Amino acid sequence: MKEQLSLIKEKTIEKIEKVKSLKELENIRVSILGKKGELTSVLRGMGKLSKEERPVMGQLANEVREKLEKYLSAKKEELVNEVKKIKIQEEKVDVTATRGSLEIGHRHPLNKTMEDLEDLFQTMGFSIIDGPEVETVKNNFDMLNSPKNHPSRDLTDTFYINDDILLRTHTSPVQIRTMLKNKPPIRMVSAGRTFRFDDVDDTHSPMFHQIEGLVVDKGITMANLIDTLDVFIKEFFGSDMKTRYRPHYFPFTEPSAEVDVSCFDCHGEGCPSCNYTGWSMELLGCGMVHPNVLRNCGIDPEIYSGFAFGMGVDRITMVRHGIDNIRLLYGNDKRFLEQF
Ligand code: PHE
Repeated sequence: MKEQLSLIKEKTIEKIEKVKSLKELENIRVSILGKKGELTSVLRGMGKLSKEERPVMGQLANEVREKLEKYLSAKKEELVNEVKKIKIQEEKVDVTATRGSLEIGHRHPLNKTMEDLEDLFQTMGFSIIDGPEVETVKNNFDMLNSPKNHPSRDLTDTFYINDDILLRTHTSPVQIRTMLKNKPPIRMVSAGRTFRFDDVDDTHSPMFHQIEGLVVDKGITMANLIDTLDVFIKEFFGSDMKTRYRPHYFPFTEPSAEVDVSCFDCHGEGCPSCNYTGWSMELLGCGMVHPNVLRNCGIDPEIYSGFAFGMGVDRITMVRHGIDNIRLLYGNDKRFLEQF
């Protein structure tokens, strides 16, 4: 039995030393120390020994077991550490590594148009003002001289948050905010998101973008309005572009006009896209600031006058790039956006 024990001991130690995985190690432990293990069965056979031999053998067997357990747990620790080391190495992040080619994003065509428009107006002496998208009914309609029964106030046309707050339907409330805060002379543009209860089709979206302009000073006339817009249109769309002012109605301007410009495709010759008229219709709305609006903002219309204009940035972006569907501007399809 003594030889048997030392044989088990040596053989097992040798095996443990060669082990490469935790699973193998566990298999060895079970095969020696488990219920049906070799050492266990030797211990079971002790009953057959004489009274004198039993304690001696018992002690020896315990020593062997303790020794093997020590070896097993040392090996286990070694293997666990190794696994950890490999894992750490695999998960190492090289913070100095660079990729071959980094994908760099760029401005969305809508933002680009808005910024280009702002840049141009800035060179013409306008300051850039920001306004909130969530507005008061007062700024969006009342202060802008909008009659209480004006159809645009309808629940079916406008997104109301509650009776007094809405998503602005145009950028014109920024006129009010500017005039309440600043004394004339005022020369500002403001671009941003606007919202109307429209169904989506090729040219309509419930969210769209406008840019608004306002000039208030002593002696401002319709001639200043026309000259400013003509300069802007020639600078932005090309020096051969012509303009046409058609009378229109806006509650906040009097007189008011809608502006058509030469067809973007044929520049006035006449082609299918302009129905052979030579004109692109309704590029912008404009007019002389209504005296009531000036008065509402504490500006004396006997001393000051002004003009205002507003236009759709989405439409301008579309004609600029030959985009025929507004949905493309909001679809976030990279294949589309990468073209600009
Ligand atoms: N706010 C008008 C619209 O959304 C446009 C406009 C702005 C007209 C300024 C006149 C003056 O249609």
